[in-house]
Amino acid sequence: MGSNNFDGQVSHSDAIRIIQKSLELGLNIIDTANVYTQGRSEKTIGDAVHGQRDDVIIATKVGMEVGDDSEGSGLSPTHIASQLAKSLSRLQTSYIDIYYMHRPDPHTPLEVSLEALSAHVDKGSIRYIGCSNFGAEEIREAERICRDRGFPRIVALQPRYNLLDRSAESTLFPLAKSKGLGVFTYSPLSGGYLTGKYAGSSTPPQGSRAAHSSRYAERIKQLDGGGLLRKLGEIASSVGISPKDLALAWVLHNDAVTAPIVGASTVEQVESNCRVTELNVPGWVFEELDRASAVPNS
Ligand SMILES: NC(=O)c1ccc[n+]([C@@H]2O[C@H](COP(=O)([O-])OP(=O)(O)OC[C@H]3O[C@@H](n4cnc5c(N)ncnc54)[C@H](OP(=O)(O)O)[C@@H]3O)[C@@H](O)[C@H]2O)c1
Repeated sequence: MGSNNFDGQVSHSDAIRIIQKSLELGLNIIDTANVYTQGRSEKTIGDAVHGQRDDVIIATKVGMEVGDDSEGSGLSPTHIASQLAKSLSRLQTSYIDIYYMHRPDPHTPLEVSLEALSAHVDKGSIRYIGCSNFGAEEIREAERICRDRGFPRIVALQPRYNLLDRSAESTLFPLAKSKGLGVFTYSPLSGGYLTGKYAGSSTPPQGSRAAHSSRYAERIKQLDGGGLLRKLGEIASSVGISPKDLALAWVLHNDAVTAPIVGASTVEQVESNCRVTELNVPGWVFEELDRASAVPNS
């Protein structure tokens, strides 16, 4: 379950309903970050799972700009310590199951960040460490440092992966497979774009992410996805499946993916997305989608 719109585009009370429905449907990992909705996403999750904390795997992150330089930044030990304390407090928990470095920090040696994270694992406030938006070389380097220094190893990666962005396939997926790392891919619907809701009109539909966020509206204008959307629509209608379901099924079908992290703004979306796990999609459909989404000359 993704949560970057909780207590932002989605109200606190609706987000609590979405989380509760997700848990009821058997989703057991909630992904958040210290920066999502300025910490309110974590607070909402803490409120929602209160009393059933041990039944849920909570993943959060550190490393993006929080706008308060007094506590350091990026992945420095002081910033990690202060942000971790805040995340634990907002999530109303004494431990984070998976704590991701949100992105590489060019100003802090990786070894220094890993040493700091390792100390928090020793104290019990982090169970496992992950890397998000890291390249294959950086992950190899992290693995080497952890091995040489006796730090707990990285267990999870979080790259973007969807029909419009398959860059994780070339090096990250094979690396994860060879090292036995979990791969939790984000934005399987490209933030909603792959549902087709933005096609055919320059005005985003009411209630959608693009209607709420001018930044996202700008981003989808830059996407070169019209051809893919048309092809996805054609393939989907030929097998009687919605384009949204097929885009999600395509991610789920890849055995390099441990689990996709899917966002939702309503309970109905969560219900509909969970039903995708029950779809029986013929293999040739995925092959067609692979061809339709391949980057030319790659
Ligand atoms: N590590 C990172 O750097 C990073 C970056 C981005 C995201 N993430 C994580 O990954 C999660 C998922 O990413 P994401 O939310 O950006 O992308 P996503 O899962 O591809 O898209 C989610 C959005 O698609 C729309 N949607 C979902 N189900 C739908 C349905 N059944 N019918 C119609 N529309 C549907 C909703 O938007 P509407 O509001 O338009 O309905 C929803 O908010 C985030 O919440 C976050 O936890 C991590």
